[in-house]
Amino acid sequence: MEIKKVGILGAGTMGAGIAQISAEAGYQVILVDVVADVAANAFKKMQKNWAKAVEKGKKSAEDIEQYNALIAVGTDLDVFAECDMIIEAIIENIDIKKSVFAQLDQVCKPEAILATNTSALSITEIAAATKRPSQVVGMHFFNPVPVMRLVEVIPGTETTEATVQATVDLCKTIKKDPIVAKESPGFIVNRILVPYINEAAIAYQEGVASAEDIDRAMKLGAGMPMGPLALCDLVGIDVVLMICEYYWKEFGDPKYRPSLAFKQKVRAGHLGMKTGKGFFDYSK
Ligand code: CAA
Repeated sequence: MEIKKVGILGAGTMGAGIAQISAEAGYQVILVDVVADVAANAFKKMQKNWAKAVEKGKKSAEDIEQYNALIAVGTDLDVFAECDMIIEAIIENIDIKKSVFAQLDQVCKPEAILATNTSALSITEIAAATKRPSQVVGMHFFNPVPVMRLVEVIPGTETTEATVQATVDLCKTIKKDPIVAKESPGFIVNRILVPYINEAAIAYQEGVASAEDIDRAMKLGAGMPMGPLALCDLVGIDVVLMICEYYWKEFGDPKYRPSLAFKQKVRAGHLGMKTGKGFFDYSK
């Protein structure tokens, strides 16, 4: 099936990024968020990113005009009826995802592929909420979406090879490098990256060094592009905490026990860049 129209559900950081690169690749895009302000802010963020690209001479005003003509923003799932592929990028909660996939199954045309950007949850479990598990697939993007090249493509137990191939092809068209991974908590990257971030937060909690010095050490001594605590702020401390808790439950291994620092920051409402404060302060 040729994919022409892409629907994206959830206009947070990830959804907005996916919408942006899909329009840049020439797809018609419908970006939906149940909260109108979130969808509107995502649209503004895209404009900001494109304005920067024009300033740097990387894109022209005509390019931006073309992208804008391809994007529609809404708050209602019904608009996905015409889409060939829907990419869900909502909150990482299995019950909410299952309920949303059951709704998408009702609204979307029978041949449409339903993809989830889940960073750790079971594709098979999400797919089982639909009557088309063979057309449900994991499509895991990385933050910041316009910059990071990888998309992990994860088949569930019922996903067909045709669905995987169509997803891999879409990734290539939107200029990403797909890697197919087996279904397992965290797939490849988060399986390795999240325990690393957790260990940094535990070291911080134990007072091994300040947040600044832990990050500087990993940049200077291990060549990381950014420190683990800044990365945690970028991803969202709430998201990293949820993933640690999920690993602990799924693997039954206490090595995934989350740092207390995550819990304290989440309880205080300091979730990282998105709230202006996390391990570091972004309010200035
Ligand atoms: N949106 C769009 N573009 C962005 C951006 C954003 N949020 N942040 C940076 N960029 C662009 C900049 O505009 C710049 O573009 P040009 O080359 O065209 O000028 C380019 O990226 C480099 O940015 P900077 O010069 O400002 O900064 P940098 O060189 O330090 O790079 C970084 C910033 C790309 C974020 C880099 O530090 C990095 O790669 N960090 C690691 C990020 C990472 O590990 N991401 C994965 C997180 S895990 C995840 O997402 C999965 C999950 O499920 C939790």
